[in-house]
Amino acid sequence: MIALAQALPDIRCTIMELPSICELAREYIAEGGVSERVDTVSVDMFREKWPAGYDAHFFSNIFHDWSFDTCRELAKSSFEALEPGGKILLHEMLLHDSGHSPYPAINFSLLMAIGTLGQQFTLPQLEDILQSAGFVKVSSLNTYGYYSIVSAEKPA
Ligand SMILES: C[S@@+](CC[C@H](N)C(=O)[O-])C[C@H]1O[C@@H](n2cnc3c(N)ncnc32)[C@H](O)[C@@H]1O
Repeated sequence: MIALAQALPDIRCTIMELPSICELAREYIAEGGVSERVDTVSVDMFREKWPAGYDAHFFSNIFHDWSFDTCRELAKSSFEALEPGGKILLHEMLLHDSGHSPYPAINFSLLMAIGTLGQQFTLPQLEDILQSAGFVKVSSLNTYGYYSIVSAEKPA
């Protein structure tokens, strides 16, 4: 979010995180010189109401921590908190559709399976999760290295 705010002078962002991470994030935000446009909100995303009024929700390396069912819950919470026309953006290292390549994404997926409740996803898997929450117009854009942004929209 800090790099995004530095690159796009008109954007305003809020980091939604657990309280201790919000505290830490505020230090980095100040160091990055974007305190006037990036703030934080402490929310336990599984137990508390998500704030409304945002144009988009950006999840970077979040879905890969969780099971398919939990990701469906997250997508549903996002859908409910967004206004019609709002966007969801998932920043993840994608597996190819076969699930058998590329090796860096497979290694990352194994790491997530061992260390968290998650794994890396294929685009069709994320598409299914997003569509099951009601999102439409799912698309994917390769960003850097093996990372992509998978985006979708709440119908207007
Ligand atoms: C894999 S890290 C991703 C961090 C960062 N977005 C990135 O791209 O590197 C997952 C993040 O989810 C946050 N998190 C875990 N459980 C959470 C919860 N219940 N509510 C809000 N945030 C949570 C953690 O604090 C952690 O920063």
